[in-house]
Amino acid sequence: MDMLFMLCFLLVLSSTAGAVPVPSPDRFLKSNLRSSRSSKPQEHLELSYPLPSDRLTPSCTLTIIHHSFADTMNSPPFSTPYSPPLDCPPPWSSVAVELRVESSGEQYDRISGLWLGGVELLRTSTAEPTETGIFWKVRKDVTRYSSILARSNINVTMMLENIVNDVYTGVYHVDVSLWFYNESVTSEAVRVPSIVRPNDVGVINPQKFTSGFTDSPADLIIPISDNGDRGFWFRVESETDVHVKSIRIPRNSQRAVLELYVSFHGNDEFWYSNPPNSYLETNNLTTGRGNRAYREVFVTIDGKFVGSEVPFPVLFTGGINPLFWEPVVAIGAFNLPSYDLDLTPFLGQLLDSKFHAFRIGVDGGISFWLLNANLHLWLDHGSENVEAKPVVYDNPALSIVLTDAFKLLDGSFRIKAEKRSQFVGWVSSSSGNLTTIVSQEIKVNNLITFSKNGTYKVVKERIKAKRGTKIHTDAGNVIAHLVTIRRYPLTVITATLPGLKHDTSLLVTNVSHSMNERCVNGDLSSFVFNSQDSNGWMEIRDHSVLSGEATTMQSFNFRDTLGCYSRTVAAHNGRLIVDNTTFSCATST
Ligand SMILES: *[C@@H]1O[C@H](CO)[C@@H](O)[C@H](O)[C@H]1NC(C)=O
Ligand SMILES: *[C@@H]1O[C@H](CO)[C@@H](O)[C@H](O)[C@H]1NC(C)=O
Ligand SMILES: *[C@@H]1O[C@H](CO)[C@@H](O)[C@H](O)[C@H]1NC(C)=O
Ligand SMILES: *[C@@H]1O[C@H](CO)[C@@H](O)[C@H](O)[C@H]1NC(C)=O
Ligand SMILES: *[C@@H]1O[C@H](CO)[C@@H](O)[C@H](O)[C@H]1NC(C)=O
Ligand SMILES: *[C@@H]1O[C@H](CO)[C@@H](O)[C@H](O)[C@H]1NC(C)=O
Ligand SMILES: *[C@@H]1O[C@H](CO)[C@@H](O)[C@H](O)[C@H]1NC(C)=O
Repeated sequence: MDMLFMLCFLLVLSSTAGAVPVPSPDRFLKSNLRSSRSSKPQEHLELSYPLPSDRLTPSCTLTIIHHSFADTMNSPPFSTPYSPPLDCPPPWSSVAVELRVESSGEQYDRISGLWLGGVELLRTSTAEPTETGIFWKVRKDVTRYSSILARSNINVTMMLENIVNDVYTGVYHVDVSLWFYNESVTSEAVRVPSIVRPNDVGVINPQKFTSGFTDSPADLIIPISDNGDRGFWFRVESETDVHVKSIRIPRNSQRAVLELYVSFHGNDEFWYSNPPNSYLETNNLTTGRGNRAYREVFVTIDGKFVGSEVPFPVLFTGGINPLFWEPVVAIGAFNLPSYDLDLTPFLGQLLDSKFHAFRIGVDGGISFWLLNANLHLWLDHGSENVEAKPVVYDNPALSIVLTDAFKLLDGSFRIKAEKRSQFVGWVSSSSGNLTTIVSQEIKVNNLITFSKNGTYKVVKERIKAKRGTKIHTDAGNVIAHLVTIRRYPLTVITATLPGLKHDTSLLVTNVSHSMNERCVNGDLSSFVFNSQDSNGWMEIRDHSVLSGEATTMQSFNFRDTLGCYSRTVAAHNGRLIVDNTTFSCATST
């Protein structure tokens, strides 16, 4: 059916919207959609920045996983021994991981994690297959994990819980390989220089471009993770479900960065669109998707808050309207961003050769979140002992204003939240006595409105996260100053209407979301504007999509002091209809 006609038709229908369940973003299966849009296996993709190493020849490649994930729910992860390749020993100029997946049949999207020696290398999710099959590839720069990649006789582990039975038939066939390079990236090789560049999702990795001593990968990475029987992630079921790992760090650590890996599922898959429980109770709604729309992943050391993050709202391929995410998946779906918290100001508390308790939890979280972290440590090679002391600990409470106004199914819920903190500490090592000033600022504006007797829902989420690290010598010379500002605007509009049959519904949805980032490092700066707009409709029965139409447009733009990259795509009903790439700065935003 023609889209315009459909919309008019829906407008007429909407006045009769009566006994329709309250809309909320949900998870769907393309199951009964027998459109056979493609006669051969189709490639899915996530727009990303080309890796600097993409145009280089690797010194070696090593297949580390070749496995099919069939009925794996409630089973231990897949684990296999790992040692670095004998013919290209470390150090490497860079290392990339390549994940290839194939699947056909019917299946939900699934979450997956890849760990080496308990250190997470990649958090990814799967695309929902079709009868004719789909496949995709994810490449990620993993150079920052070189210290663990260089270790022998450890395990590489992949968790991908999947269900295969008479209904769900899609098996995920996975190949993971590592590409080791011993060739330096030159600007001719990649056109876009690598000095200030984002990683694959467009997230800029501050380690990549700070001056001097942080430029190289950490000497040691300690996982803050579970024991591995069910994957190394901690499964967080509620806001009081805080997980702990006690670790001891070397006496000569001089810099510490905690990298958080985060994903949200179940009743919190769409946490930014959850109304308060009072709304659900008043209307006798049985959904578990409640507890409001504010979530903050936090980290404490020995009970003391050291940092937090409001994560980017990644949409998985079954989310909202699965037809939006073929063949171009949502931002971050194949390569979820990780988040770096600079813990250097807290080294004074940790350099006593004793165990310290690292805890990770989710403020406001409900079932369930999968969280773990990698603690990256840079050691002082010139000394066995480093001295350090925290100087400033400024951590005011979150300021949060909640404004609720509703009558039965209609109303609005607003959240305005803000948090700022600053931590300062000095570290005296053979590199000198350096003071690190770490600041973080989070601003969240969330508005959820229900109208037309709860059948028209609008979610507007605006997240801004600003982080800064400034390092100065005891003479007061600033040797590094990094500022990263990320903005994640998201709007989801859903109209739920009675379907063409008594047991079906029609969902008409618009989604627009972006990951925008500005990064300033002294005189250098870079920008990423990555935005997606989707609109369409689908007829559903329970969680199965019976029919529908969808269009997704995406524009990925990167610009830094030395070059540009931009790619624009449009997909309509499962096919790419526009795909333009340019390295010219003239056309990029
Ligand atoms: C509003 O929706 C509820 C629940 O779906 C239904 O019981 C009620 O009759 C509806 N009211 C109107 C005015 O349509
Ligand atoms: C890596 O490159 C350097 C410099 O080109 C060379 O000396 C070294 O032998 C290479 N290492 C390997 C393992 O190929
Ligand atoms: C690797 O995994 C195997 C099987 O799960 C286990 O027995 C072994 O202890 C693990 N090795 C390491 C170094 O963790
Ligand atoms: C919810 O259920 C209670 C108890 O059954 C009933 O009294 C109340 O009217 C219901 N509320 C709505 C909005 O249907
Ligand atoms: C390092 O510098 C800070 C402030 O600049 C000073 O208070 C501290 O005593 C110095 N530490 C050492 C070991 O010199
Ligand atoms: C949804 O998107 C379509 C196409 O871009 C647009 O015509 C329509 O106005 C949007 N609806 C809303 C409610 O924003
Ligand atoms: C894509 O590139 C072609 C050739 O440069 C141009 O004609 C077309 O307008 C571009 N399309 C979009 C959507 O940018």
